Amino acid sequence: MQAFTYLHGLLHVERVSLEALAHEYGTPLYIYSQTHLRQRYDALVTAMADVSPLICYSVKANSNRAVIDTFRQQGAGVDIVSGGELFRALRARVDPSKIVFAGVGKTREDIEYALKERILFFTVESEQEALRISDCAEELNLPARVAFRVNPDVDAKTHKYVSTGKKENKFGMDIERTAKVCEMAAGLPHIDIVGLQMHIGSQILTAEPFAEALQKLQPLCRQLAAAHSSFKYIDIGGGIGIQYEPEHQALAPTAFADAVLPALKDLGLQVIMEPGRYLVGNAGALVCRVQYVKDNAFKRFIIADAGMNDLLRPALYQSYHEVLPVRRTEERVFADLVGPICESGDFLAQERELPDVEQDDLLAVMSAGAYGASMSSTYNSRPRPPEVMVDGDKANIIRERESWDDLVRNEA
Ligand SMILES: Cc1ncc(COP(=O)(O)O)c(C=O)c1O
Repeated sequence: MQAFTYLHGLLHVERVSLEALAHEYGTPLYIYSQTHLRQRYDALVTAMADVSPLICYSVKANSNRAVIDTFRQQGAGVDIVSGGELFRALRARVDPSKIVFAGVGKTREDIEYALKERILFFTVESEQEALRISDCAEELNLPARVAFRVNPDVDAKTHKYVSTGKKENKFGMDIERTAKVCEMAAGLPHIDIVGLQMHIGSQILTAEPFAEALQKLQPLCRQLAAAHSSFKYIDIGGGIGIQYEPEHQALAPTAFADAVLPALKDLGLQVIMEPGRYLVGNAGALVCRVQYVKDNAFKRFIIADAGMNDLLRPALYQSYHEVLPVRRTEERVFADLVGPICESGDFLAQERELPDVEQDDLLAVMSAGAYGASMSSTYNSRPRPPEVMVDGDKANIIRERESWDDLVRNEA
């Protein structure tokens, strides 16, 4: 299902008009389709049905409680990378036995919190981290389940900032080192070695890198499964790419499944997946209102009330988001869509054919459900936008717009 479609010339999310939502909640405004979230989840579960994976939604993609709760109701756990994400997940009533904790820089405080909550496992990314987890577990007299993150050194053919499985990236450990650290960790008190994990990057559009990485992990996986009775899980991370540009193809869950299922079935371990973007990316849009249109000698600037503080991806990764007029028009103009922030990097679309809009028109920046609101900031002292989730013809506010008071609340 397409979450966003035109009905009577107006862009709708499910059965609700974006114009009506912008009128009610103001702009800029994040809007999500809950039906789309559920359908994406179901499609992945169906494609991977042969191995009945535990889907641990990657909270960093969109950490709103209502989004986490939507997936929890479908049976999902979560992938977290901080104590703050653990706090959010628990508030959304996620079962701790379905929580996996990744990240290269876990603090003692993070580890102790997660141990006390009895999460499923930590993904260990270094020898020192294994020692620290063991130390914390000993102090609290609690068991620590760990899965080691392997960096398989494969090229995921994605933007260099979201490639995480090449040897020059900070994530995980190479296979030889993982084997050594496992050996060392096996002798540590309170540590149970429960699995291996990989996450080779994000927005990956072909299935081959996943298959290649898995192939590299297989021998060590077998070796560890034979050596440790506690070894049960193979966690294959997230990274499934979505469609941002109309002429680009997303990686279909079925194509992904075809590539990874043979190896996973062969291993016979419990499979864990950590999708983020795939589940939420296309479900969301950022709606903004045009403030000014100005021409200089070279080009036109459409200046909106949303900027890089609301949606950082274009500035950070030069990423493409489709821009649609909320009131349908076929007229196009070559322009930049920019925000009000005092940075030349503050653009949402650059040197593109964009809807030929006028002052006060509404635009929708599409596929903004992942790494949109969760990466937003208050830079230039701009309160963060509200978020609305639509289910059929019902719209619920799931995060209020921040106020100017919120901006200064913690300052002395
Ligand atoms: C460990 C881990 N798992 C899962 C994800 C989710 O990735 P994606 O949103 O591409 O599915 C990330 C993203 O950075 C990650 O670091």
